[in-house]
Amino acid sequence: MKQEYNKYTPDDFEVWKLLFESQILLVRDKACSEFLKGVETLQFNAEKIASFDETNKLLLQLTGWQIYVVPGLIPPADFFKLLHEKKFCAATWLRNRNQLEYLEEPDMFHDVFGHIPYLTDPHISSFLQRLAGIALQYISNEKVVEMIATFYWYTIEFGLIKSKQGEVKIFGAGIVSSPGESIYCLEQTLLHQPFDVAIILKTAYRKDIFQSTYFVLDSLEQLELSLITLQHILNEQFGSVSTKSVTT
Ligand SMILES: [Fe+2]
Repeated sequence: MKQEYNKYTPDDFEVWKLLFESQILLVRDKACSEFLKGVETLQFNAEKIASFDETNKLLLQLTGWQIYVVPGLIPPADFFKLLHEKKFCAATWLRNRNQLEYLEEPDMFHDVFGHIPYLTDPHISSFLQRLAGIALQYISNEKVVEMIATFYWYTIEFGLIKSKQGEVKIFGAGIVSSPGESIYCLEQTLLHQPFDVAIILKTAYRKDIFQSTYFVLDSLEQLELSLITLQHILNEQFGSVSTKSVTT
């Protein structure tokens, strides 16, 4: 599947512009620096729906990632297989004017504006690929795949992170692309918890409401190191099922 750019209507461009303008204004002092830098590097802007071809050229040079078009949500096992090949799944359809605030399923604005800027960062790029590598070791074990999906949820989708100055910033793509939650998650400090892999794996989540817990990373280094803990927990609970190493 490909992004059929010439099929976007003037209304699609208008929706992209409305979403981009309001969201970048909202998160420019709330999102982590890696996100903001990525938006700039990829030259995302309000005037033009992001072109996957153009973005892929830049990503290929930077970290080797590619946007991979999917029709909608795909099974977690397929998602992790693609992720391990540095293919990030994205939809090409855009919400309409009546859905600016809330969507049941991720659209292109969430997938592209929310996720793709992070792929320009070498640490996050490495984390994602290594996380997918761990998932692949246990790909036939639904329970482990669900645990890794939970870990992904509380980091890549709904994580928070401290800046070098100690301020709590938005890390997750689910937050950074959401007008309501990008405000809510920082205001609700009682919902913030220190980042802890074992606790995250046992924390259920819901997709249809704002989160009731946000785990706050101290740094990107902590995120990268967490994979060692994750691998250790899975080995202990489910045995070491592959010779693949967490470092690959
Ligand atoms: Fe997402």
